[in-house]
Parts: sequence; structure tokens; C-alpha cells
Amino acid sequence: LTLRKPIIAANWKMFKTIAETEVYIDKLMAKELPKQVDIVLCPPFTGLESAAMAVTGTEIKIGAQNMHFEASGAYTGEISPVMLGDLNVQYVILGHSERRKFFHETNEIINKKVHTAFKYDLTPILCVGETIEEKEAGKTLEVLKQQIDQGIAWLTANQVAKMVIAYEPVWAIGTGKSPTPADANDSVKAIRKYIQEIYDMETAQQVRIQYGGSVKPENIKDFLTQSDIDGALVGGASLAADSFYSMLV
Ligand code: G3P
Repeated sequence: LTLRKPIIAANWKMFKTIAETEVYIDKLMAKELPKQVDIVLCPPFTGLESAAMAVTGTEIKIGAQNMHFEASGAYTGEISPVMLGDLNVQYVILGHSERRKFFHETNEIINKKVHTAFKYDLTPILCVGETIEEKEAGKTLEVLKQQIDQGIAWLTANQVAKMVIAYEPVWAIGTGKSPTPADANDSVKAIRKYIQEIYDMETAQQVRIQYGGSVKPENIKDFLTQSDIDGALVGGASLAADSFYSMLV
């Protein structure tokens, strides 16, 4: 049996100024942080530098919410993995449904980004999940399989074992609706099974798979106690330091 360390990440999306970032991190650091869980804060790009400086010497890690798949180039408005590395960013959320929906990111583009993340020593948090239409059409597993097959294509087993996957049903994001913990666990198990089919059992047992979508202090334990769910990717309920902290302990 592989013991996977839970990972709880805060995705702040397009929220918080630098000053707000610093206040938040001060509040978090004033508390005793648990050691049995990996804690990752993902501010917007403008907050990364101050966040990374503020958490120096603590167990908290910093993640970006996106990046380009090239190290540099004529890509106006984009941020490269090298720039993230410069700021001591260690994680990067890739393929979030908001990136897929509003910025037209495809599985192919996301796959390039995942490879780039590994090349530059960033740990990708690859987001997958079905829309309400896909769910209602009974296509959840098919969609997840395709997002996994294409999203992790050409990675080595070793890379897959080290990455993080976030299962976020699109209909559960910011809606207050969520699957039952048992249903979320079934989808996460299915993702693990696809990874086992492509790679092997050991890799599938090592990869950490989070649940995301309307996770809050009142329901997080129900998800985290499921057999295959290894943490959470939290949006709205991560925006207040007290609320986020209460989900870590
Ligand atoms: O990436 C986390 C996110 O999409 C979930 O958002 O606000 O439902 O926790 P929220």
C-alpha cells in the first residue's frame, strides 16, 4: 500500500492584491501548520513574488495558476516557466476548466505545458473534469479518460508518479453544488485506473489526485477521508486565511 501525502492547494483565481496576499500569509503563518499535509498557495502572477518571499523558511509552497509552454519568446502577455522558477514557484495549475473554457486551452496545449513544467522543475497540478452537459449525457468517464490520455501523453511513469491531478467537475466549481464524496471518489478511482492502464499499478498508486469544486470547511473531511482522494484544490473557501487554515487541520 502506498501512502500518499495529502496536498491541499488554494487557487485564488483573479483575487488579491499584493497587500492582501501579505496579510493573508501573515495570518496563516501565525498558526501552527500541520506537517502531514502539503500546503500550496496559488496567487495570481502579481502576488507570486511577495507570496514566495513571505513563505520562505516555512512548509508552505507557492504555485502559479497558469504558464506558457515555451521558456521565452514573442508571446505578449504570457509568463514562462523560467520566470516562475525565478520566483521560487514550485507548482503550477494547468488546464483549469476556466482556462479551457475562457482561453480555449485544449488537451494538446495543456499536455505541452505539463511537459514544460517538468522540464523546468515545476510540479504540475493537472485539472480535469466533466461539464454538466457531459455529465447529463453520461459521458463523464469518457471525458475524463480523454483528458487524462491526452493531458499526460508522452510523460514517463516517473513524471506521472510525481505530478498532481485535480478532479474538478466543472458543474461543481463555484456553484455550491458538489458530487457526493463517494461519487467524487469513483471518478478519482477511474482516473487512477486509466493511469494504471497506460503505465502500471505502482505509478497509479503514487500519483496524488485531489478533488476540487465547492470544497469548504464543512465538507472537506468527507472528501479527504475517501480512499482515493489525496487532497483538495480549493477556490472560494481558500480566500480567507481562517477558512483555508481550518481545512488544513
Ligand atoms: O481550482 C479550484 C476551483 O476551481 C474550485 O473552486 O470556488 O468551487 O472551490 P471553488
